[in-house]
Amino acid sequence: MTSKAVASPNIALIKYWGKKESQSDLDRNIGLNPSISMTLSKAQTVAEVSQKHDNELDEIFINNKVASLEDQKKVTKHLDRIFDELKIKRYPCLVKSENNFPMATGLASSASAFAALTLATINEILKSDSSKIEFYLKNKELLSSLARRGSGSAARSIEGPYCYWERESAQKLKLDWKLYDTVLILSREKKAISSSQGHLLAQSSPHMKNRLEMLPQRTEKVLRALELKAINDLGPLIEEEALEMHKIMQSSSSPIDYLLPETKKLMQALNQQRTRDYYWTLDAGPNPHFISERPIREELEALLKQEDIQGEIWEDECGYGAKLL
Ligand code: PMV
Repeated sequence: MTSKAVASPNIALIKYWGKKESQSDLDRNIGLNPSISMTLSKAQTVAEVSQKHDNELDEIFINNKVASLEDQKKVTKHLDRIFDELKIKRYPCLVKSENNFPMATGLASSASAFAALTLATINEILKSDSSKIEFYLKNKELLSSLARRGSGSAARSIEGPYCYWERESAQKLKLDWKLYDTVLILSREKKAISSSQGHLLAQSSPHMKNRLEMLPQRTEKVLRALELKAINDLGPLIEEEALEMHKIMQSSSSPIDYLLPETKKLMQALNQQRTRDYYWTLDAGPNPHFISERPIREELEALLKQEDIQGEIWEDECGYGAKLL
């Protein structure tokens, strides 16, 4: 038998950048601050897990290719921790993980990948015990906490459309607002500095202390704007937040500049526009995400033409989190 699950990446409105020091695998990837995100729906990772014979090794494929050694290690480690959590003797697994969206495009594939892998693995291990599977399917915070140990932002891909992640796990926010995320892919190059390395550098920025002091206020305001469905309140807050995260990156002891000249040019052009109902945010990369209450492809294409910038557009919208297939 094979177990299959699907999950989507999420885009953070309040960012996770910088993590607490961990004492063990249990408290890995805990952010220095609570973060807020929107889970997407069109971009998806499907993870398939099945049991192999006892004398074999784990076999891991990502997008139909044997995974790199680095990715194999991460997946194997994640399988170890799930077997451990369920107190079941580890057996080798065949894992196939496939994205329907291009990698390294600013859509965080590790979030959707670890959320889908967590759910598929639990189902595979517990397949003969439906009441235990039910328990895990209902206990979203436990799933989130497990996914988080694979990749921090995966904690926020278990649920949707909006999550608040504080400490061990993320929780669904009780909100009903359809927002769109239009991603502009300016570059598909893999980042030179991984987000794991970036997280470690965050606290070396002289701006981090101030950020952590001021962030509760911005976080409250973002929550209020989401509750009130006030895009014109939410927009400036998420732009300020994305800029601040990049200021922290650029001012760390080993500065990281993930942005391209085209990213900066677009941000400047948008700053000149007085009336706008779509707003940008950024992850650890150069590709902006535009958040809006309606599809904005046409405006974005006009803007690219006006600024003489080439890019591909990925249109997405909020969704409901990970599920078994
Ligand atoms: O989960 P990681 O280690 O890939 O960190 C993600 C960090 C950002 O995407 C830059 C921000 C966030 O909150 O998702």
